[in-house]
Amino acid sequence: MEIKKAIIPAAGLGTRVLPASKALPKEMLPIVDKPAIQYIVEEAVRAGITDILIITNRGKAVIEDHFDHSIELENMLKERGKTDVLTEVQRVADLANIYYLRQKETRGLGDAVLRAREFVGDESFAVLYGDDVIVGEIPAIGELCSAFEEHGKCVVGIKEVTDEQIVKYSSMKLAPLSEKIFAIDDMIEKPSLAEKFSNYSVLGRCVLTPEIFQVLEHTPLGVGNELQLTDAMRTIARTEGMIGVDFSGTRFDMGNKFGMIKANIEVGLKHPEVAPELRAYIKELAQTL
Ligand code: UTP
Repeated sequence: MEIKKAIIPAAGLGTRVLPASKALPKEMLPIVDKPAIQYIVEEAVRAGITDILIITNRGKAVIEDHFDHSIELENMLKERGKTDVLTEVQRVADLANIYYLRQKETRGLGDAVLRAREFVGDESFAVLYGDDVIVGEIPAIGELCSAFEEHGKCVVGIKEVTDEQIVKYSSMKLAPLSEKIFAIDDMIEKPSLAEKFSNYSVLGRCVLTPEIFQVLEHTPLGVGNELQLTDAMRTIARTEGMIGVDFSGTRFDMGNKFGMIKANIEVGLKHPEVAPELRAYIKELAQTL
């Protein structure tokens, strides 16, 4: 079955990137010339997703403004003959059918997903975490959707991470099915090094069946006293099994300071407008380090 709906949870507090995220949602932090969440919406659209629900909270209205028309701005660009920028600005407003829902309390990623129950109905759906930008030729969520169509099981996007990272993320118990595809039969959120199954962690993308909602309803609060999506996925992994896809793009964690800087440098080095200047600047700077 083709995946047409996606959820982007963007209601977190973003404490790791304060004070930048005090008045501006971290999902709106720019990578060169676009906010992080635009890259994520574009990835979903490239994978054939048509309907996107963004989970927001107080102070995130700027996300809605970003994906809307700005008539004054568009008129002004028209008058001044800035057609290239005008086309780009208009394109953002027409990317997909975008809906918004507020998570009234920050109770965790699992709770944010649970809010999307009515939007999703009885269809399987994609989840793209609002602060995880994945850049690549092929949309990462498209790779997960293909694995879902082939195996008919819930799918997570995974990557190998370091020991320092695994204790902050999740750890997968898995066996390879092919070079990039794995069978997962257990997982743990924020494990100690003694508890970890492997260094493969879920990074920002999954495709879930609506069964996840019943499981989430019966999942007790986990790490940080929050409803953890990983805890609900663990129940599914243990009973039905899940699929892991080692996606091909590069992932940037916009929820931490170093991730933000890396994203700007790497995307900047490929951006036609700034790449030559940035390359020369980095080379010059490197000599002084
Ligand atoms: P994080 O785990 O990065 O949580 O959320 P956070 O609260 O935003 O960040 P820190 O740890 O305080 O710095 C992963 C994704 O899930 C969303 C976030 O917006 C982010 O895109 N999220 C998290 C929600 O939508 N609701 C929540 O209750 C928690």
